[in-house]
Amino acid sequence: MKILVTGKGGREHALITALSEYPGAHELFAYPGSDAIATLATRVDVPGLPELIDWMLAQKIDLCVAGEEAWLVKDRGLANLCEEAGIPCWGPRKEAAQLEASKTFAKKFLKRHQIPTADFAITTTAEEARAALTQFPIVLKFDGLAAGKGVAVCPNLEEAEAFITDVMEKRIFGAGDLLVEHCLTGPEISIFASVCDDQFHILMPARDYKRIRDNDQGPNTGGMGAVASRQLADPALMERIQREIVQPTVDGLIRDGLRYRGFLYFGLMLTPTGPQVIEYNCRFGDPEAEAVMPMVRGDFARYVFAAAKGAPQPELIHFADGWSICLISASAGYPASSRNGDVISGLDQVKDAHVYHCGTRRNEQGNFETNGGRVLAIVAQGSTRQEARAKAYAASEKVTFDGLQRRSDIGQMHFED
Ligand code: AMP
Ligand code: GLY
Repeated sequence: MKILVTGKGGREHALITALSEYPGAHELFAYPGSDAIATLATRVDVPGLPELIDWMLAQKIDLCVAGEEAWLVKDRGLANLCEEAGIPCWGPRKEAAQLEASKTFAKKFLKRHQIPTADFAITTTAEEARAALTQFPIVLKFDGLAAGKGVAVCPNLEEAEAFITDVMEKRIFGAGDLLVEHCLTGPEISIFASVCDDQFHILMPARDYKRIRDNDQGPNTGGMGAVASRQLADPALMERIQREIVQPTVDGLIRDGLRYRGFLYFGLMLTPTGPQVIEYNCRFGDPEAEAVMPMVRGDFARYVFAAAKGAPQPELIHFADGWSICLISASAGYPASSRNGDVISGLDQVKDAHVYHCGTRRNEQGNFETNGGRVLAIVAQGSTRQEARAKAYAASEKVTFDGLQRRSDIGQMHFED
């Protein structure tokens, strides 16, 4: 099979590794890929989506797998264009990908289909937003691109007023509505489902660590680490999540005429009254994919191909027992900025762990150097969480570069022992 994956980060490196490791001699391509991904997949160099579709047709690509979300909503949508061209695509149409692209679209969808989520008001002016500040803490979310800075959990009126002034009066992120949401409490969990029209298959759950520093301090990032294990949610909780959240979401997509084929990510909060949806993403999580992919057993490529063609075969894969822990190494300055060009040493010393490249490039000497905020994901497995943690930290200590930032409490914080 000829498979093309869109994206260039650690998630795509993990997906491509999983596609390459299982039976069948697949030919793998990445758009745009990275220097590290190039050891497994041929990079495709075309200027944009229409050219990519032409290239896939000319190469007779059998399957297109959407890694990052951007292409799903760009131009007329990656999945829409693939569909017109007759190329099976694992990733939803542009209309359905609004579940991730627009927070107000997602909230209206959740409400329409009576799926548990925090109460909310959609406001279009600063006055409306201020009038909706009825209790504290309160959560404010800008509905547009904000480089990860569009959500504020405000403990008091003063902070809420300041955010509203910045976003709705100074318009620091540009035009857009502001969601005012009740604040939920409880541990967060990431649930992934492979959705094919009216069918779904729930994958291994994960938890990510969004703050830059230990003990969940400092600003939010794309994710500084992740833990994956079936033991993150017991069977009764998984059954409840399926019944109250996943099934109604899939039914809602069908009812709204939003055809969905691809990974669907549910960001949930496990509140005292039950699981509630914080957000949807129309793709796998990053860094959750780096933690989950090494736990996949079976024929992952055929699994994705079958579902993309509309005839899912969930029995083609299963998940290993035990725990998987992913540690992100980030570059100096992240998340406010990122520094490129710091040479990475020790990659060849890593044993007993996967290394996925999130943001690296080869320099003129052929060595990897930093090229982005999140640089590397180092991932290890163990039969216990403690064993996986010890292996992941031992492996990550071999790898260094100037300015490296890494949390020391991944897989420990948010667990009782
Ligand atoms: P989002 O971009 O919607 O995923 O929000 C980013 C983070 O803000 C989430 O992972 C939560 O930690 C937090 N958050 C979002 N919505 C709420 C809420 N309604 N109550 C409490 N925390 C929230
Ligand atoms: N890890 C969070 C995300 O992928 O959005």
